Amino acid sequence: MEDNVKAMEAIFEQKIANDEKIEPKDWMPEKYRKTHIRQISQHAHSEIVGMLPEGNWITRAPSLRRKVALLAKVQDEAGHGLYLYSACETLGISREEMYEQLHSGKAKYSSIFNYPTLTWADMGAIGWLVDGAAIINQVPLCNTSFGPYARAMVRVCKEESFHQRQGYEIMMTLCNGTQEQKDMAQDALNRWWWPSLMMFGPNDADSTHTEQSMKWKLKRKTNDELRQQFIDQTVPQADILGLEVPDPELKYNHEKGHYDFGDINWDEFWQVVKGHGPCNKERIRDRKNAWENGEWVREAANAYAEKQAERKAS
Ligand code: 3HC
Repeated sequence: MEDNVKAMEAIFEQKIANDEKIEPKDWMPEKYRKTHIRQISQHAHSEIVGMLPEGNWITRAPSLRRKVALLAKVQDEAGHGLYLYSACETLGISREEMYEQLHSGKAKYSSIFNYPTLTWADMGAIGWLVDGAAIINQVPLCNTSFGPYARAMVRVCKEESFHQRQGYEIMMTLCNGTQEQKDMAQDALNRWWWPSLMMFGPNDADSTHTEQSMKWKLKRKTNDELRQQFIDQTVPQADILGLEVPDPELKYNHEKGHYDFGDINWDEFWQVVKGHGPCNKERIRDRKNAWENGEWVREAANAYAEKQAERKAS
């Protein structure tokens, strides 16, 4: 038995080394399976919870065009959640189990979605910064070692690019508008900048999973590498908008070819991750309500599927 496991481990390691995809039916170390369930389910939860802050502004969009774009984006996030829950189910966990973990607080979702959306400019800042960060974090995942996750990410990233562009266009419109509109855009940047940097997770030195996730090619770049890439890409965009990034220590370092930036408030990050952010309770309350109010839809869909299966079998 021992030899057999060793042989399977060797095949698994060789596949990872050859950049081959690990498929659901392939043998995999239990820890590999467990960390993928952890990351993919939390990624899916982030997509679904992420619909709430923006959903708050659908009925208050300033024009039909803006309403249509925001509606399309929020619907896309639901689809991203479904791809990811489905990818995660191939690892042997049910949708109900994943939802129970979210509702009970056992599972996390991205800290960023625990902040309030106070003005219309927040829809611009979220698209520009949050989806911009998500793209940087998700593009490497198109090349992650677990097949279903990598394939789900290809379509997600295509749709995220639209999300980021529509957000940046909102910011551009406000910055080219009245002084009051430009002030609203600057206020949104002030509130969303640092929480967007926190999205990439703790510094590599404090990251529980990064080292092993890099070895398994679950992660292709580290938290700090992706955070730096986001800052380097986004600061010039803020310059084009004529907005000031709220970091007095932000300065381009010509030697390194990157921006140096100030210290992130990790106490705030962990407070939010542990459930004490501005909107954590509201977000989980709304998710639980949606799950309970949607029970009849799940029952009807399951009943229809069973009827169809009976018809096919008869
Ligand atoms: N919010 C909440 N928890 C976070 C976090 C964040 N921003 N960053 C890290 N954590 C948690 C981790 O989940 C881990 O806790 P756990 O062991 O209970 O899961 C702990 O902090 C230590 O962090 P690590 O860096 O060691 O954890 P990971 O290796 O999992 O890295 C991650 C964290 C970078 C978020 C990684 O999980 C990842 O890349 N996930 C996939 C992408 C994702 O989930 N993005 C979130 C946003 S999705 C989104 O924005 C949707 C878009 O459409 C708007």
